[in-house]
Amino acid sequence: MKRAGRRSVVFAEYMLWFLMTAVIIMVAVLVYDKVSEATDSRAVIALVIIAVICALAGLLTALDALRRRYMTGLPVRKITDATERIAAGDFSVRIAPARALEAYNGYGEIMDNVNAMAEELGKTSVLNKDFISNVSHEFKTPLSVICTYAYAIADGRLTDEETRSYARTLAETASRLSSLTTNILRLNRMEHQPPPEFRPTDIGESLRRSVIAFEDAAEEKGVALECDVCDGAVALSDEGLLELIWNNLLSNAVKFTPRGGMVRVTLAQRGGEIVAEISDSGCGMNEGVGEHIFDKFYQGDTSHASEGNGLGLALVKKAIDLLGCVIDVESSPGEGSTFRVRFAACDRERVSL
Ligand SMILES: Nc1ncnc2c1ncn2[C@@H]1O[C@H](COP(=O)(O)OP(=O)(O)OP(=O)(O)O)[C@@H](O)[C@H]1O
Ligand SMILES: [Mg+2]
Repeated sequence: MKRAGRRSVVFAEYMLWFLMTAVIIMVAVLVYDKVSEATDSRAVIALVIIAVICALAGLLTALDALRRRYMTGLPVRKITDATERIAAGDFSVRIAPARALEAYNGYGEIMDNVNAMAEELGKTSVLNKDFISNVSHEFKTPLSVICTYAYAIADGRLTDEETRSYARTLAETASRLSSLTTNILRLNRMEHQPPPEFRPTDIGESLRRSVIAFEDAAEEKGVALECDVCDGAVALSDEGLLELIWNNLLSNAVKFTPRGGMVRVTLAQRGGEIVAEISDSGCGMNEGVGEHIFDKFYQGDTSHASEGNGLGLALVKKAIDLLGCVIDVESSPGEGSTFRVRFAACDRERVSL
């Protein structure tokens, strides 16, 4: 019920209260007239008036009790039952839509809010369960690899060459586990961190640094890395979060582009907007995959599943939200992908870096 509607209900309740009092006074006056015509005894008149007032008050109190039962008692009972079940961990509870009388006094709104709260808690609980089972799954495979290889080395029956190869696998698997742990901790920290302290940041400078850091990886894979970044694009931002965004987008672009392909990085300022684009000529993705790429642990391209855990873009999305900028993706299978990040530019003349 809207605030104006609630005010008129409160007003009607007050009116009802004063009307009932007025009715009792009126009836008392009428009874006094009638009884004083029939008798002169003050005691009898007083007794009759008291009796009539008591009877009327009793009747009106009974009516008011009925009103309270339907307008207050029932909705409060429903809300209490539901919140008790929610407190006990049952998020499937929903209060049936309020009937006309129950919806007065804002109870209808409280019921809707309790339902929305239960739904939200239910979703969070499912997400938590999924998160735990995903984390366990991601840890289980490398741990079993480590166990098998470590026992094989401990047996002492391997050749020197085999031992070196097993030890290398152990080191790589352990380092993947370590980066998985780092990403989970980072994601958790970012989910609870307050908004960052924004500083005027040269976006081009930060993007260039990340591109340089990826040159070796791209060359090793035989992927051409092109960079065309404008100067002087300044936005209020956070260096650490920017680095995280560029590193994950570049790592994906190189990872999902086959040998002989190309990754192109551009940065341009159009009026008040700075647009960074990271495009690749890689495997691309279909719409179904595109819808989930920012979900935690989602990996659309199973052929590269062992090269990550599906946390990179979840981190990127969190960083984008913290920075208040926007990311969008254009991609089609076999034709590559373009990730575009947009920032609001700030006036270079008026800020000092
Ligand atoms: N440039 C890209 N080209 C094609 N598919 C992509 C690209 N970037 C992301 N994807 C798809 O999105 C999924 C999620 O990406 P994300 O970076 O979160 O995970 P990942 O790279 O598989 O693992 P991690 O980042 O943890 O190493 C990828 O598995 C892939 O299917
Ligand atoms: Mg990634």
